[in-house]
Amino acid sequence: MLLKSQHSGNASCSTQQILILMTLLVTGGAGFIGANFVLDWLATSQEPVINLDKLTYAGNPETLASLQGDARHQLVQGDIGDAALVSRLLAEHQPRAVLNFAAESHVDRSIHGPGEFIETNIVGTFRLLESVRGHWAGLSDADAKSRFRFLHVSTDEVYGSLAKGDPAFSESHRYEPNSPYSASKAASDHLVRAWHHTYGLPVLTTNCSNNYGPYHFPEKLIPLMIVNALAGKPLPVYGDGMQIRDWLYVKDHCSAIRRVLEAGRLGEVYNVGGWNEKPNIEIVQTICKLLDEMRPKTEGSYASQISYVTDRPGHDRRYAIDARKLQAELGWKPAETFETGIRKTVEWYLANPDWVAHVQSGAYREWVSKNYAERRA
Ligand code: NAD
Ligand code: TYD
Repeated sequence: MLLKSQHSGNASCSTQQILILMTLLVTGGAGFIGANFVLDWLATSQEPVINLDKLTYAGNPETLASLQGDARHQLVQGDIGDAALVSRLLAEHQPRAVLNFAAESHVDRSIHGPGEFIETNIVGTFRLLESVRGHWAGLSDADAKSRFRFLHVSTDEVYGSLAKGDPAFSESHRYEPNSPYSASKAASDHLVRAWHHTYGLPVLTTNCSNNYGPYHFPEKLIPLMIVNALAGKPLPVYGDGMQIRDWLYVKDHCSAIRRVLEAGRLGEVYNVGGWNEKPNIEIVQTICKLLDEMRPKTEGSYASQISYVTDRPGHDRRYAIDARKLQAELGWKPAETFETGIRKTVEWYLANPDWVAHVQSGAYREWVSKNYAERRA
């Protein structure tokens, strides 16, 4: 456990060591990966988390319900681009690190409305970097300054699309983003890199492959297929279903981030992946098989609901991550195979129908408005 020391104002006691827990500032910690990270962190650490989240449609405080009343966690509704708010949080809580999960994250939404992606992923990251730089530059404690980290959570999609047989993305792969989402994340990665090279900000960047697991908003492939299958709805497979993604169980992504935060070299980029390349249609068929086993239909297989639909414009064909640097340098390895992770995921969705129902009905938004109305009253 890291502790910080504080100088006592008492003249008779020149430099008293007061043991105070360090703090993390997590942004976007009510979203899928951020919330899994916060839950995992607080399951094993006493170190408090300030969770700054705008609570867009993707932010769901119900995911964090188990932390209600837990003094180690404070959820603050706000924008990473709000310099006054971010500066206040930094000054008040003196976090030892800022972990930036906040983003607009869905490719299909970025195609229909790229504006929010530019605003949050590019302008928001820029403003956050500036607030953090101001805070970090002003730290008078040399220890606190040298220990401070800004960890930026990014995606493999910045590298573009691979053809069959191409080697997996390494950290030195050229950036070739193809969607408004990946272009906005690529821009944010470049800003983070530049803030390190120009201003010396102590940054770390992780570029991870597709995640799946508990609390995943059912607009993304895996949760959408589980939820639609159970509701008897069509399972929409884009194009020929042969696009390949490299899947990683979300808790493995969280453990990689913890490891990079702990021991990553400043200014370095670490690719995170699970060596689980699968075509989309195989993912959908696997989900159907697991549901056939765990929640059989009265007649037939869930696979009969598979429906091929018009392809996504500019659809990237293949992503694959080479995570050897993270493994060799920091000794990280995923704990789950795709088979164990997808089974746990389907089990989680079957065991948590209320979470799903509240997302589908919009009740999780009512919870957000009520909670904040009560707080303001
Ligand atoms: P998500 O969409 O589930 O969650 C994003 C969170 O950020 C939400 O809680 C939202 O309310 C919050 N947010 C959005 N705009 C904000 C703003 N301006 N200020 C503060 N909070 C804001 O996304 P996710 O899947 O949890 O992804 C988290 C991060 O990981 C993103 O940066 C994403 O690019 C990256 N990533 C995701 C995947 C994946 O497969 N989901 C893979 C690799 C990297
Ligand atoms: P998605 O979960 O949106 O993640 P990303 O686009 O960031 O990789 O999609 C994963 C893959 O699944 C992608 O190739 C698009 C495809 N897909 C479908 O075939 N049908 C769907 O309904 C969705 C949401 C995605």
